[in-house]
Amino acid sequence: MAEPIIRCEGVTRTFRSRAALDGISLEVQPGRCFGFLGPNGAGKTTLIRCILGLARPTAGRITVRGHDIAKDPAAALARVGAIVEEPRFYGYLSGRQNLELWAAYTGGDAAARVEPVLDRVRLLDRAGDKVSTYSLGMRQRLGVARALLSDPELLVLDEPTNGLDPDGVAEFRVLIRDLVETDGRAVFVSSHLLDEIQKVCDDLAIVNQGTLITSGTLADLLAGGASALRIECDDSARAQQLLSAQASVASVTAEPSGLLAVQLHADVPANRAELNRLLVEAGLAVSRLEPRTESLEERYLHLVNEGGAA
Ligand SMILES: Nc1ncnc2c1ncn2[C@@H]1O[C@H](COP(=O)(O)OP(=O)(O)OP(=O)(O)O)[C@@H](O)[C@H]1O
Ligand SMILES: [Mg+2]
Repeated sequence: MAEPIIRCEGVTRTFRSRAALDGISLEVQPGRCFGFLGPNGAGKTTLIRCILGLARPTAGRITVRGHDIAKDPAAALARVGAIVEEPRFYGYLSGRQNLELWAAYTGGDAAARVEPVLDRVRLLDRAGDKVSTYSLGMRQRLGVARALLSDPELLVLDEPTNGLDPDGVAEFRVLIRDLVETDGRAVFVSSHLLDEIQKVCDDLAIVNQGTLITSGTLADLLAGGASALRIECDDSARAQQLLSAQASVASVTAEPSGLLAVQLHADVPANRAELNRLLVEAGLAVSRLEPRTESLEERYLHLVNEGGAA
């Protein structure tokens, strides 16, 4: 596999005693779209700020394009474009003038790219208008145009579709796929919506309360899901106690119906038989033990709604 374009190793960031990020490790491959998915407050913006050198991890290490962001930020960020939260512009200048200013600041051949990037984000016809007259969607596209001025190998976008209407979101999606497939750029994009990540990303990681819940290619995560069991027996409390102590069990929760929902680290038949034996040998009457595969969506919704670790 190629050298990852972003590598995070054990990245932790604490604010006072609270960990906004707790030992995050992930790798983003060049030329792929990587989705960073998590509910509000999960730590998405915090990690993005660390990747861009805008904040320092309390512990851990981040390399971008093979360069340590803490030691050599200039080399790491030389060909990186980003939008963190809402892009800001001078409202009294036109879209084109804003980009020209930015290009002058960026240097290199950025000035020659102003017109092509305006065309790329389909803003050429409004490029002469003041930014104060732009819609939110137009501002977001201008943000991407600005991020493209340095001809980046990597674009980092923090919730770029927040506040856009469905048409704006769909259009943005097409733009991102085009940047990946036609130009071969890598895109790291955060979102709190699974649906959005699912439609645009090749790979994804799910984060909650600063911890990575799962990561992998979208295809693998959609195919695999999480392994779970549903168990019905005559003493749920005792069963919960016994099951929680097993190495193969990730978590046990009692559903309102009285059934136990058991998350397994790996769903193999031997595990199921072993758990059944454990309960029966403890004197419990097991009336049901059924395997089920939780979809990525169920797992994410569970995570968002319960606010706990899946
Ligand atoms: N400067 C700060 N000082 C103290 N706590 C902070 C600071 N920045 C972030 N946090 C905390 O870190 C946690 C993660 O915040 P972060 O902004 O990274 O979440 P997020 O995933 O981007 O959420 P959202 O979807 O709402 O944008 C939150 O609990 C937040 O309160
Ligand atoms: Mg955020």
